[in-house]
Amino acid sequence: MIAVVLLLWHQSKGCGACWVEEKAALLDIKASFSVPGTPWKLNWDNGDDCCRWQGVTCDSVDGRITGLDLSESTDFTSRLLNATLFLPFRELHNLSLSANYFNCCISASGFESWSSLSMLEALDLRQNNFNDSNIESLVRISSLKTLLISQNQLLNVLQIKQLSALNLEVLDLSGNKISGVISDMGDWPFLKALSLRGNLLNGTLPMEDLISLVYLSLSGNQLEGLLLLSSFSNHSKLKILELSSQIGNFQVEAEFQNANPSFQLGGLELPNCNLNNGTFPSFLSNQHELYYLDLSHNQLRGPFPIWLVQNNKNMLNLNLRNNSFTGPLVMPPQGNSNLSWFDASQNMLSGALPSDIHIKNPQFIIT
Ligand SMILES: *[C@@H]1O[C@H](CO)[C@@H](O)[C@H](O)[C@H]1NC(C)=O
Ligand SMILES: *[C@@H]1O[C@H](CO)[C@@H](O)[C@H](O)[C@H]1NC(C)=O
Ligand SMILES: *[C@@H]1O[C@H](CO)[C@@H](O)[C@H](O)[C@H]1NC(C)=O
Ligand SMILES: *[C@@H]1O[C@H](CO)[C@@H](O)[C@H](O)[C@H]1NC(C)=O
Ligand SMILES: *[C@@H]1O[C@H](CO)[C@@H](O)[C@H](O)[C@H]1NC(C)=O
Ligand SMILES: *[C@@H]1O[C@H](CO)[C@@H](O)[C@H](O)[C@H]1NC(C)=O
Ligand SMILES: *[C@@H]1O[C@H](CO)[C@@H](O)[C@H](O)[C@H]1NC(C)=O
Ligand SMILES: *[C@@H]1O[C@H](CO)[C@@H](O)[C@H](O)[C@H]1NC(C)=O
Repeated sequence: MIAVVLLLWHQSKGCGACWVEEKAALLDIKASFSVPGTPWKLNWDNGDDCCRWQGVTCDSVDGRITGLDLSESTDFTSRLLNATLFLPFRELHNLSLSANYFNCCISASGFESWSSLSMLEALDLRQNNFNDSNIESLVRISSLKTLLISQNQLLNVLQIKQLSALNLEVLDLSGNKISGVISDMGDWPFLKALSLRGNLLNGTLPMEDLISLVYLSLSGNQLEGLLLLSSFSNHSKLKILELSSQIGNFQVEAEFQNANPSFQLGGLELPNCNLNNGTFPSFLSNQHELYYLDLSHNQLRGPFPIWLVQNNKNMLNLNLRNNSFTGPLVMPPQGNSNLSWFDASQNMLSGALPSDIHIKNPQFIIT
């Protein structure tokens, strides 16, 4: 009995560490994705063991394929995806089809067939031509935790809402043309990272439902009205916050009445947000982990806040362009070797600049 099992094992795994049926499925994918007359872009010529082929990751114990990175493997012309090609990979965790300009899908072979890939957790579909009608079938992949679907053809927030049936932790919808009201997106109790950057959304998000957020980007939408940063005060895990609007009447208020917010941010982007009606946000004096900060185009008043660089030793990228800061620009005496991009232009600064500043720091834009 043991001998038979071992024999079967040996046969289906072939001589290398790679399963015969999985290797055959890879060759089917190659045949389906290949552009006639051009060589296959991935290096799959290095021997029989398909676990060693470019973009393929296998489980170290049973040798089954767990990860497939097929990004940029076609020729940038749009074509239909045959989703059933992936069904032999029963242990697939991660799949990337990014930058292939696929439409979905050949008839009777949509994403719904991937509901049988019960371990599929991370799906990268960035830069394809998937549209609203594909959302319904993506929702059937109940194991998904990470879905990256930026730069596709998604349009309607009410279709996106269906994704809240999944237990997603990471969702990237940036660079589509999604319109509607953000609060129509449904409940996302597990979400840690959400990017909606560069869509056409309006309204605001019900922040109290998104307490696990680490990363949130709503930049470059059509947000309107007043957003209170204090609605994030209990988001202790928040590290990156990016807000801005393409239309003029968006306002962010950054006053925290009684206590400091519970977060220590790494990145904060609030350009052109009518921030605090020009009063410098005082909570920033208690932030010490910032490595990028963009407060440009906000009419902020007061002495130039160079202390931001002293308080935040990791500061890499500081943009304070087009405000109303006054006074001389005095750099911290010990310098800050981490600051590599600094824009203080279009303010009301006075006095002389350190004469060697551009020699030491060619990326500084000051006048
Ligand atoms: C899609 O892929 C499956 C599995 O390899 C194959 O059997 C089927 O013929 C393909 N469909 C088309 C239209 O190429
Ligand atoms: C799968 O993707 C996750 C994040 O999306 C990553 O942390 C993990 O290392 C990947 N695993 C494999 C096997 O590629
Ligand atoms: C989505 O894309 C498919 C395949 O290209 C197309 O047949 C369908 O009409 C599109 N649906 C919408 C709503 O645009
Ligand atoms: C949001 O945009 C939709 C169209 O996408 C529009 O019908 C609605 O009036 C807008 N809501 C607000 C509050 O501006
Ligand atoms: C934050 O938590 C405190 C204490 O539980 C609560 O009183 C307050 O309303 C919460 N703030 C927000 C914005 O949810
Ligand atoms: C900003 O100033 C305007 C005009 O004085 C006022 O109507 C508005 O309520 C202020 N906004 C905030 C957030 O303080
Ligand atoms: C400066 O910022 C204001 C908003 O505070 C904006 O209206 C104006 O266009 C900006 N000027 C430039 C030159 O970017
Ligand atoms: C630069 O950042 C590192 C941490 O990333 C910190 O240890 C170091 O002190 C910083 N350097 C300066 C000159 O502030």
